[in-house]
Amino acid sequence: MKIPTTPTDRAKYAAAKAALDLVQPGMRLGIGTGSTAAWFVELLGARVANGLGVVCVPTSSTTAAQASKLSIPQITLDEAGWLNLTVDGADEFDADLNLIKGGGGALLQEMIVATASDRMVVISDDSKEVAQLGAFALPVEVVRFGWETSQTLVARLIAAMGYKNVKIARRMKNGAAFVTDEGHYILDLHLGAITDARGLSTALNRIPGVVETGLFIDIAHAVLVGYADGRIREIGANGEGPERHVEVPQ
Ligand code: 5RP
Repeated sequence: MKIPTTPTDRAKYAAAKAALDLVQPGMRLGIGTGSTAAWFVELLGARVANGLGVVCVPTSSTTAAQASKLSIPQITLDEAGWLNLTVDGADEFDADLNLIKGGGGALLQEMIVATASDRMVVISDDSKEVAQLGAFALPVEVVRFGWETSQTLVARLIAAMGYKNVKIARRMKNGAAFVTDEGHYILDLHLGAITDARGLSTALNRIPGVVETGLFIDIAHAVLVGYADGRIREIGANGEGPERHVEVPQ
């Protein structure tokens, strides 16, 4: 079992541990992608090794590989049909539980899995909490065919919506274009501040070639914010619940 060593990792671990309390035997779970979700998968693996019976749908090949190593039973989303709970990280979240996701490039599967769940719970350290979404570059997944045309249409749309001097960059990895698990490219939109997340999401999704955006609107049911000392804040649809604590290895 891995142990968190930095304050940020302890905060992510705390949030992941708090989310583990939501898991019940027999559940069908969606498991997210990224460094915070990886703590959840790690902790879940330990519970499975101790006899917890759950089945999981991973949101990326990376998470699937981690779950396999930990012998966590996996099924496809089509086999599951519907999920009880999805636990995933985020790049930004606001007080209305709207998110930017996709920093790890898994936004499409993450959105499909989260949407097919009774409940989606975000786990995060407090650095992801924002008053307004958009400081984190918004990932937009586009099909490879004609991607430059899609990029031009995205640029025209955001200019028409009043965003100025927006840099749009095709995501790169190790000197080559980043390709998602579904075989697409990602355009990162450096918007600075998003004034109408819902309108932007709808408009971007209408552009031919755009598969999905990292704007998760009305999808998350709660955010568990972890701190290095084990404190947990839970933000739900009706605001914040009482603070609680989980044990974090020091
Ligand atoms: C991957 C995601 C991640 O959940 C998001 O990028 C947060 O990652 P991390 O927990 O490593 O900060 O959306 O596509």
